[in-house]
Amino acid sequence: MTDTTTEQAGAAASGAAATERFRSRIASAAAGSDAERVDTLVTALLTATHDIIRRHKVTYEEYNALKAWLIQVGEDGEWPLFLDVWVEHVVEEVAGESREGSKGTIEGPYYVPDAPALPAEATLPMRENEAGIPLLFQGQVRSVDDGPLPAAKVEMWQADDDGFYSQFAPDLPEWNLRGTVIADGTGHFKIYTIQPAPYQIPTDGACGSLVSAAGWHPWRPAHLHLKVSAPGYQLVTTQLYFTGGAYVDDDIASAVKPELMLDPTPTGDGEHHEVTYDFVLDRA
Ligand code: DHB
Ligand code: FE
Repeated sequence: MTDTTTEQAGAAASGAAATERFRSRIASAAAGSDAERVDTLVTALLTATHDIIRRHKVTYEEYNALKAWLIQVGEDGEWPLFLDVWVEHVVEEVAGESREGSKGTIEGPYYVPDAPALPAEATLPMRENEAGIPLLFQGQVRSVDDGPLPAAKVEMWQADDDGFYSQFAPDLPEWNLRGTVIADGTGHFKIYTIQPAPYQIPTDGACGSLVSAAGWHPWRPAHLHLKVSAPGYQLVTTQLYFTGGAYVDDDIASAVKPELMLDPTPTGDGEHHEVTYDFVLDRA
């Protein structure tokens, strides 16, 4: 098998899996029932498109290239990837506008609900010799009124040291580097994991063609994904990044915020890192 074939298998698999997951998880177009809202939003989108065509004198050649590319995005199953990388960050910005507690950021295409439940001090499921610097990620979940939130739920998922997410790449254990940690009676949690590597969006599908056609790079900075929740409080979906890491200032998905940085310190033998990050939840 050539390298190209291997890569294509990878991108097709992750794109198709992301599309399938999304379909099975999100109820179909319930938001489409309000005709007035649909009219407002679709008319605004089309008007903006028409304006771009006039302003930039878009040619038939370019129009057909766009048409071919849009068809390809669907064929590659890359709509979740495209939307989550280039659009979701603004949806999240609007959704989180009035939140006072911890900042959120995009969910991305690789969340899987119902990861194995783990106690407040736990190691994420991982392979015996999982590559990457071991990391202790610990903290407390509190309310905006400052009280601890006992038994808060900390769902965490992340890429491995090669940038692959379990269930979206072949040959990884089903729940590798995914878990649902239940905090203790004072909202504290201690999660042993590995420090992830920067993540490259698939480059061999339609999104990759766009990235190279536009002269961009395909990278996201290394990140941990989290959903933190407690009964009576708003769930926050977020990601945490590493100070000084590659691409933190130049994330292809524009999802980094200054409040979301971790600066882990080496401990003991210097072979482990640890870091503390607390979450603050708004009332529902
Ligand atoms: C994508 C991947 C991610 O891990 C992420 O957090 C956001 C987007 C993507 O490939 O689209
Ligand atoms: Fe991610």
